[in-house]
Amino acid sequence: MMIMLFELVFIGFGTVARGLAELLLEKKEELKSKYDMKYQVVAISDIRVGSILDGRGIDLRKALKLADAGENLESLPAQRKGLSAIETIKESHSNAIVEATWTNIIDGEPGYSHIKTALSLGKHVVTSNKGPISLHYRELMRLANNNYVRLKFKGTVLSGTPAFNLFDGALAGCSVSSIRGIVNGTTNYILTEMEKGLDYKKALKEAQRLGYAEADPTMDVEGGDAAAKIAILSNVLLGANIKPDMVKRKGISSITKEEVLGARKRGDRIKLIAGAEKKDNTIKAQVSPVPLPVSDPLANIMGVMNAITFETDCLGNFTVVGPGAGRRATGYALLTDLISIAKS
Ligand SMILES: NC(=O)c1ccc[n+]([C@@H]2O[C@H](COP(=O)([O-])OP(=O)(O)OC[C@H]3O[C@@H](n4cnc5c(N)ncnc54)[C@H](OP(=O)(O)O)[C@@H]3O)[C@@H](O)[C@H]2O)c1
Repeated sequence: MMIMLFELVFIGFGTVARGLAELLLEKKEELKSKYDMKYQVVAISDIRVGSILDGRGIDLRKALKLADAGENLESLPAQRKGLSAIETIKESHSNAIVEATWTNIIDGEPGYSHIKTALSLGKHVVTSNKGPISLHYRELMRLANNNYVRLKFKGTVLSGTPAFNLFDGALAGCSVSSIRGIVNGTTNYILTEMEKGLDYKKALKEAQRLGYAEADPTMDVEGGDAAAKIAILSNVLLGANIKPDMVKRKGISSITKEEVLGARKRGDRIKLIAGAEKKDNTIKAQVSPVPLPVSDPLANIMGVMNAITFETDCLGNFTVVGPGAGRRATGYALLTDLISIAKS
């Protein structure tokens, strides 16, 4: 029996990375007994909580406790401190990188450079960062293949809820012809609140108060986040080669309470739908608010929940429903990616 030993580096140690750290600690024994997977964290580099590298291993429990308390990791014993993300990737003797810095869908940086550097050095990469994957999927996959390593990015769509990874596991051999989904929890929450009678501005304020929406909500409410996700889904499942700016999109910021309530009266619900379809070898992808009859499974997805309906050749239509964000749910996505690498 072959044991996979991950010598892990965390690049970005915020919400999601710490969700993974927590699960790695919690499931250490199970990972070994069920999946023949062991790990040692050899570096963490984060511009907010500090940077430490130690080939003999870092005490992950202590690092997590410090970061959660908002304290600097550099108070821990380590061979090297203060290295940048790129220096950390280059100088650590690691075989896998967890990339969980911020999403940038203009040029994919800094995640794009982190992932490129790691793959070029023959290190596996798991990431929840939509920027580099939605913009540079083909190039990065080629780089991974040329270097005989894996690039996994389950957490970029629907966090830990199964989406495209279904099709190389449980649904291997099944082909997808179209995708329709609610892939942004913030906008779905706002539309749900508007159905209760709030106007758009009040619903957005409530989403911000609860931490579902950023202070600058543009990426969510104008459909940019959903466009990046449907671009990733289209490229992976439909063989497309599109970038987020090629996705036709309309957000929800101009939707009125009257429109939402009027749709309800007609037996519909307005949902922000990210869709993509393959027809005659061309792929069309778009994001827009659509009135859906309540008989449609997507019409019944409320609050921050996400869902995707896949149209397939073997199963017809089926829908997956689950959380699309959160520390533990997205940390779990990174864990499933590591397990999938260990299994392969
Ligand atoms: N949170 C979710 O539920 C969720 C769900 C799905 C996908 N994602 C994606 O997962 C990624 C991580 O999300 P998150 O919620 O964990 O974000 P986060 O809490 O903001 O954590 C990101 C961390 O990376 C640090 N960082 C930024 N640039 C860096 C650099 N060049 N080198 C080293 N560290 C750097 C940040 O420091 P500063 O804060 O100082 O910039 C921050 O501590 C994002 O791409 C996000 O879109 C998140």
